[in-house]
Amino acid sequence: MTKILVVGAGQMGAGIAQVAAQAGDAVLLNDRTQEYIDGGLLTIDKNLERAVEKGRMTNEERQAALARIQPQLTFENVDVDVAIEAATENLEIKLDLFAKLDRHTPQRAILASNTSSISITKLAAATKRPALVIGMHYFNPVPVMRLVEVIRGIATAQATFDAVRDLAIAHGKTPVEVRNFPGFVSNRVLCPMLNEAIFALYEGVGSVEAIDTVMRLGMNHPMGPLELSDFIGLDTLLSILEVLYDGFKDPKYRPCPLLREYVDAGWLGRKAGRGFYEYATPGGAIVARNGAGAAVGAR
Ligand code: CAA
Repeated sequence: MTKILVVGAGQMGAGIAQVAAQAGDAVLLNDRTQEYIDGGLLTIDKNLERAVEKGRMTNEERQAALARIQPQLTFENVDVDVAIEAATENLEIKLDLFAKLDRHTPQRAILASNTSSISITKLAAATKRPALVIGMHYFNPVPVMRLVEVIRGIATAQATFDAVRDLAIAHGKTPVEVRNFPGFVSNRVLCPMLNEAIFALYEGVGSVEAIDTVMRLGMNHPMGPLELSDFIGLDTLLSILEVLYDGFKDPKYRPCPLLREYVDAGWLGRKAGRGFYEYATPGGAIVARNGAGAAVGAR
């Protein structure tokens, strides 16, 4: 049993807390407000309820997993083995969190980040324990997706890597080791494809429906790239592309102006109720397409 602090109770943090609790770990779920924590707990409760309905776990197992997750509004002097930071994809926020985690967790604790693209070496430099800092990148929806990218910073110790690899396996995931380059492997490959789909919409090559159908039926992707962009969050996608663009100084990573405009409009995707699609509620089902800003003929 590992004692884990999960920082951030959004879709990623809640998912990580759920798989950890299901694996028998003791979880402290932290966020800035009780409301955010309650939101995360509600998502976990619904997911576990669905698992019981589908016969994948008993009601007793569900109750036991829920009881292993404790809300934690501050993380001063918490006794944990591992902290997994799953806050907003923003360098300043994460640097601040890592400095705080370094002050308030036991010296032996591993500090992991679920960042999608930010340098682990940079986050480690905000602490006095760079050998214990590592990237542990889960995928959305966490309970379903089998991958964890494990990212070594330049100073990450082998023992830290081994412990996190074993933790990912205990969470039912397949860990894959990658180096600390912008976007690692997953987002270096995925995000330029998503960005290209947005360019195709912007330039009027095809409608939202056409672009997504091509990739779903032609490439067997479970979601089209525009639906997946909405699912990830357009603000998160833009942040990742900025990291790639700044990190490589290569114009091939230039974020599409239409993506930037959607983010400026507050059309952040599924979580906001609007992105390349419109949703019945934030986080709800698709009800319509939104081709605003696409070249005439592609709307
Ligand atoms: N939480 C928990 N479980 C969920 C879920 C969620 N949010 N959404 C779906 N599921 C479960 C369902 O309960 C269902 O389980 P069973 O098979 O046991 O019944 C299963 O997933 C399939 O769900 P559905 O039948 O409702 O829908 P689907 O077949 O269309 O699958 C999906 C949904 C798994 C999300 C699928 O569309 C998919 O794989 N999409 C692509 C997801 C993807 O690419 N994720 C990576 C994003 S990139 C990222 O996360 C990293 C980053 O840094 C940006």
